[in-house]
Parts: sequence; C-alpha cells; structure tokens
Amino acid sequence: MTTVTREPRTAAGAVRRLTAILTDRGIDPRAEVIAEPEPVTALQLADARIPPRYRHALADHPRITAWVTEIARTGRPGPGGVPGIATGPSLLIAGPTGTGKTHQAYGAIRTLLRAGVRLRWEGTTVADLYAAQRPQHGSDPEQQLWRLARSPLLLLDDLGAAKQSPWTEELTYRLVNHRYNQLLPTLITTNLPVAELRDAVGDRVASRLAEMTDRVILAGHDRRRHAAAL
Ligand SMILES: Nc1ncnc2c1ncn2[C@@H]1O[C@H](COP(=O)(O)OP(=O)(O)O)[C@@H](O)[C@H]1O
Ligand SMILES: [Mg+2]
Repeated sequence: MTTVTREPRTAAGAVRRLTAILTDRGIDPRAEVIAEPEPVTALQLADARIPPRYRHALADHPRITAWVTEIARTGRPGPGGVPGIATGPSLLIAGPTGTGKTHQAYGAIRTLLRAGVRLRWEGTTVADLYAAQRPQHGSDPEQQLWRLARSPLLLLDDLGAAKQSPWTEELTYRLVNHRYNQLLPTLITTNLPVAELRDAVGDRVASRLAEMTDRVILAGHDRRRHAAAL
C-alpha cells in the first residue's frame, strides 16, 4: 500500500510549493534576489506600499494559496529569466466583515513576492478609487484609471461597499472590462453575498466577474470584534 503524504496548506507550505515549481522550471528564486544590485528586495519594496496592518500577511487559505500557485506556475519569465506573471484567472474573495478578506488578498501578493515572482501590482479600495476619480486640480483621473486597469496584478478591495451611482457603475465597468478583455489577474474582495453583487455593481460588471473569477467565500467570526472580545 502506498501512503501519500500531503503537505499541510499553510503559508510556509505555499512558499515551498511555489519554490519547487520555479525550481522545476530551472529558475532559482533565491538566486534572483541575490543577483539584485540593490540591497532592497521586491518584497521589501512591496511591503512599503502595503498598509502596516497587512504588512506581514501571508495567504493561508487553501483556495487562495492554490490561486497563488497557479499564477506563479503559468507566469512567463521576465528579463533575465526572472519569474513573472502573465494572464490568468482572477479571484473574488467574499465574506462578512472581519473574516480576513483583505489579509488574504495582501497575503496573496506577499506570498508571490516571497516565492521570488517578480510582479508589478497596484492595490486600492474601491471607495478610494472613486474618490480619486473625482475631478481635482492637478490630478489626471483618466491616467490613474489606466494605471490600475493595465497593472499586471490589481487588488480591488471592498467592491460594492461604496454608494453606487451611474457614474461609479461606469468607472467600475471600464476597469473590470479592460481586465476581463486582457485576462489580467485581479484580486477582488467584497462584503456582499455573491447573489447581491449584481444589484450593487450592475449587470455588466457582475456578468464579467462571474466568468473571470474563481470564488472563495470566507466564513467565521469577525476577527476584529473577537480580538477585542466585543
Ligand atoms: N489569517 C490571519 N491571521 C492573522 N490575522 C488575521 C488573519 N486574517 C485576518 N486577520 C486580522 O483580522 C482583522 C480583520 O481582517 P481583515 O482582512 O481586515 O478582514 P476583512 O477584510 O474581511 O474585513 C485584521 O486585524 C487582520 O489583520
Ligand atoms: Mg477588508
């Protein structure tokens, strides 16, 4: 009888699996970091842009580490053979407030970087995106929208939480439609039950999300209230 031992689906396990995949493809992830002329690693640079609360997050949900592994496996090497990311599936992380959606999303980005995958990424809450799109002196909303739309990896946090209007619906549509058309990996979090997304973001966005995303529903208690015993 053969006994198959499976590595537990932990954050450290995900990093090990990714490292093994990259090594199989003849890429030594650690060598890339050592070959960097600057002393600052991609992970350190990314951490500086991640909100401090999530700066140590690593994805530990099995469906999210599976997505991370898939993105790393299908990525195309960049200059000098450095592992990178290409087109691929997107991920919708849904669940009630405080269940760890934002933690898992930033954790997914950090897990990729920690495994040596070189990627350019952008992250914003959807409410901040709408705020930044309002005409303001000295800003170029159109250029900002395209920076997010074209980013190789995008985190859109809290979709459906901000008050919607035809204007917000159009902005969300333009962003999501570009990423849908170009097959660009996008991490989306939402507090809304998936069935309510259509009402919140409109049919055109909801239909594209249905096709382009794998879905993960986080359950459990509100970790914030639990920590404060409220
Ligand atoms: N897997 C985890 N390990 C440790 N802390 C976590 C984990 N998931 C979430 N947290 C913490 O729980 C709190 C709520 O998580 P957060 O991701 O902000 O929830 P949500 O985005 O679902 O509202 C935060 O303080 C976060 O740092
Ligand atoms: Mg959140």
